[in-house]
Amino acid sequence: MPKYSLKVIQNLARERFRMNLNGIHGFAHWQRVHENGLYLCRHIEADSRVVECFAYLHDCCRVWDGPDPAHGPRAAKFAREIREFLHLDDHAFELLQLACRGHERGKTSDNPTIGACWDSDRLDLGRVAIKTSPKYLSTEIAKRKSVLEWAHKRSRGIDAKIKG
Ligand SMILES: [Fe+2]
Ligand SMILES: [Fe+2]
Repeated sequence: MPKYSLKVIQNLARERFRMNLNGIHGFAHWQRVHENGLYLCRHIEADSRVVECFAYLHDCCRVWDGPDPAHGPRAAKFAREIREFLHLDDHAFELLQLACRGHERGKTSDNPTIGACWDSDRLDLGRVAIKTSPKYLSTEIAKRKSVLEWAHKRSRGIDAKIKG
């Protein structure tokens, strides 16, 4: 079995992606989702490995930047194809499946890992000039004003730091 490597997962996602990697659903978005997720995981009991895998996989099967309701299920299917590289146990892998499948349906989740995945993605809505509404966030930490502002600035290309 290959060793766990974030680089490998990033490369698999990049190779799978059919659109412009510099676009609104491309690599820089995945990286910010990753950073958002790591921040949330410092504050809640979420599985950071699932959140990390979600960051690079959730949008990698999009076919265009507009409405593409099947891209979540496609990402879940792709995760099954590359499962050996993800090194997640059955429970963690199931959480990744659920997080990928349902990430664009506007739902929230009581599960901290799924919630952290979805919040990490939604905190990056500023890149398409949308202010993230706490109504669509699952975790209390993501709803904090300081977190919303930090994520919004970064999503707009402004360098920002957050404490904690
Ligand atoms: Fe998506
Ligand atoms: Fe996304």
